[in-house]
Parts: sequence; structure tokens; C-alpha cells
Amino acid sequence: MKVSISKTNTFSGTKGCAQALLISKSAFVKSPYAKLCKSFGFEGEGKFFLQEQALLLVCVEVINLDSIREAGASIARYFRALPYKSVSVALNGKLDDSKAYALLLGALLGVYECVSYKSKTPSSALKEFILLDKDNEVASVNVLKKVHIVAQSVNEVREIINTIPQVATPKYLAKYAKDLSKEVGNLECKILDEEALQKEKMNAFLAVNRASCNPPRLIHLSYKPKGATKRIVLVGKGLTYDCGGLSLKPADFMVTMKADKSGGCAVMGIIKAIAQLGAKIEVHSIVGAAENMIGGNAYKPDDVLYSREGKTIEVRNTDAEGRLVLVDCLSYAQDLKPDILIDFATLTGACVVALGEYTSGIMGHNDKLKAQFEKCALESGELMATLPFNAHLKKLIESKIADVCNVGSSRYGGAISAGLFLSQFIREEFKQKWLHIDIAGPAYVEREWDINPSGASGAGVRAGVEFILAQGKA
Ligand code: BES
Ligand code: ZN
Ligand code: ZN
Repeated sequence: MKVSISKTNTFSGTKGCAQALLISKSAFVKSPYAKLCKSFGFEGEGKFFLQEQALLLVCVEVINLDSIREAGASIARYFRALPYKSVSVALNGKLDDSKAYALLLGALLGVYECVSYKSKTPSSALKEFILLDKDNEVASVNVLKKVHIVAQSVNEVREIINTIPQVATPKYLAKYAKDLSKEVGNLECKILDEEALQKEKMNAFLAVNRASCNPPRLIHLSYKPKGATKRIVLVGKGLTYDCGGLSLKPADFMVTMKADKSGGCAVMGIIKAIAQLGAKIEVHSIVGAAENMIGGNAYKPDDVLYSREGKTIEVRNTDAEGRLVLVDCLSYAQDLKPDILIDFATLTGACVVALGEYTSGIMGHNDKLKAQFEKCALESGELMATLPFNAHLKKLIESKIADVCNVGSSRYGGAISAGLFLSQFIREEFKQKWLHIDIAGPAYVEREWDINPSGASGAGVRAGVEFILAQGKA
């Protein structure tokens, strides 16, 4: 399905073409459609299809960017199952660039589904989704460019996350990154294999992968435009599978753990979009790609690991593996001297308990930076909320035998104690420059929600892109 913006009023029901009107409930009841619809029992809640005119009415409580984005997805999904080749969408009220962007992005992200493993791929007659802009209120070229780049990047991230763990191994992610750098052109790609990781003394990272027959990889993508004003380094948890290790997950909790690479995939998607948009910011994306498995050589609860930063870590639970991979990657990332350092990770089930499945947790020591990121995330359409660190939770990760313990000693506050664990490996000079984003909830949900299909959502990509673009403006 293609999206476009039309400056002529084609809202007339040409054969094979459907129409949709997005309207607030209060405007609908005053509209000429109200009387007719009422005779069918529709009073302005949700969608109603007037077959005769091939017109879908979409009523929302209020028209804002969130409802427009969701309506874009909902309209595109609705017509995917009907025999129309195009749908022309009108918005009641004034249009502008951000409304146009929201609607078209919603449409492109709403129709994505993972069909790679179906022997029959469903086909849809719908080929075009057209926004009507008859008053010429939208800068079409700019809006369409950004919509295509961001949607493509989010959908590609969803596709890699949905890729089965048998296929999507650390080597596969590394190959993907190499291909990406060739495709995009202005991206460099460096891969660290097992031997290089040993040389780098990334012993915590290596321990996690030890029982896997798939070797680990550190992926380092960089985008260095001329005249860059800032350097942002992103780090992503790329666990291509997390069975829990010897602290094995119960069967029901193991399913979906192919999505434990979501943070790593997200940072690759962000850098791709930023490079294609040509932002004047230097960006690095570092993915810690590993597989947490069991075996005779597995790392164990009771082990003590020597991390790259030099701090020792007592392992009490091998299922708290993401933070072990991340701290070595964060150490490598700090050597790049970032102005801002952000990690994205499906780090804790506790974050999902705290905020629900649809919201990511933002943590860090810099309130202003956290607030800035939250604002950009919300504007991008991703739900995020900040979780506060405190000194009492920090005591829970103290270890008797090592410098720090990989799990908290209380069953409560797990999202924050995981964040505080990472914080132990952030050098003093970067403490105020660092953010940790726990995307464990929204990264992968096994039901359709908002503009997301069942499965991977691409959480982190839209928020990360908006945040970086905002840094370019600041
Ligand atoms: N990958 C999981 C976290 C997770 C849970 C992601 C649910 C997505 C959905 C992580 O490695 C993990 O297992 N964390 C443990 C930590 C615990 C052992 C301290 C958890 O959350 O239970
Ligand atoms: Zn785990
Ligand atoms: Zn994990």
C-alpha cells in the first residue's frame, strides 16, 4: 500500500475508490450524515460504513495527533479486507504537517503484518491511501519523505524482531547491519567477533553467551555527517534468545523471548532513519548481540564476572543477563565520549508490571534529559513514563562477595534496581548524559493495539528518532 497527498478534491466516489472521513463526535452530530446514520443505529461512536457512497465515517472523541494516527491505522486496516483499490481520506477541520504525518504514519504502520512464515500470503486490493489536502495546508514533499523513512525503518525493525530465533542469531544481526551500511551509504559498520570481545575484556557479555552454539557479536554502526553539532551514542540489548540460562524461565515465560533483541534492533532502525533524514548529529548504534542458553559450559548463579569497566559482578540469577551484556557495551560506548548516551532494552518484567504493556520506562540521573526524552516520545506517539531512582533501592544490589550483584535482594522495584545496576557502570562524567529506556512492555505484545500489529511493535524507534531530531534543533 502506498500513501500520498492529493491537492485536488477527489472525494467523490470514483469506481473502485472508497472514501473515509475523520470527524469528532461533536462535529458528526451536527453533520448531514447524522440523521441517515441514526436510522441505522449509529450515533457517532467508532466507525460506520455507508456502503452506497463507499464512505467510512470514523468518529473520535477529540481530534488530536494520537487519535489521527490511530484512525490512519484503523482506516487502512478496515479497507484491507474490502475490494477497493484506493481510499481517499478527509479530515474534518484544519490540516497541518503534523496531522498529515500522523495519519499517513498510522496507515503505513497499521497495515504491517509479519507474513514470512505463512505459506499463503493474504492479498489486499487496497493499493493507495490518499490524504485529501484540498486547501493546500501541508508541505507534502517534507511530510512524505519523513513518513516513508520512519515507517520503513519501524516496519523493518518489526520484521527482524519477528524473525524466528533459529534464523535471527547474533551473526544474522551482524550481517543485517553490514548490509544496512551498504544500503544506506553514509553508515559505517564495525563488527566485533568473539575474539575481539575477549580482547576488549567484555567478560560479562561473553559469559552470557557461553552456553550458546551461536557466537556473540558486538555491532557498531556509526553515522558521522559533516558539521555535526553533537554526538549521541545508542546502545541496544540484542538477546536473540533468552531462555533464562540455568535460572531457566518457566515454559510460558519463555515464549516471545525471540523479542529480547528488540532494543538492539531499535537502535539499528533509529540510526538508519537518522542517516536517511540527513540530520546534523553524529550517531552511533551499538548492539550487544548474544543468546542466553543452557549447557555444560553455561555461566552460573554464584559466578563472579570481571566486567570491561573493571567492576566485579556476582551472578545470582542468569536470567538477569541483559544488564550483563549492556554494561560491557555501555563501557565501550563511553569510550566514544558521547554528549548523550541512551540504552534501549527489554530489560525487566518488573517494568511491565509497573507501567503496563504499552508504556516504556525512562530512567537516569538527569531530570531535564528524562523530561526531554519523555516529551519527544509522547509526541512521536510512543507511551513512556519516568521511573525514579532512589538510594534505598540502590542498596538492594549490593553484593557481599563482589562489587555489585546482578539482581536486587527484594522482589519489588525490579525495573529501577536494574536501571541502578547499569548506573554502576556509567562513569561519573557521563552520569548526567545517560538515559536507560526499558521497552520490555511495548516491544512485543501478542495482540493488536494502537497502530501496532500483534508481535513486534518497533518500540523505541519513533521516540529515538524524534529525540535525536530535536537535539539537532536545540
Ligand atoms: N528479557 C527479560 C525481561 C523481559 C520480561 C522482557 C518480559 C520482556 C518481557 C530479562 O532478561 C529477564 O528475564 N529479567 C528478569 C530479571 C530478574 C531475574 C531479576 C525478570 O524480569 O524477571
Ligand atoms: Zn532474562
Ligand atoms: Zn532478557
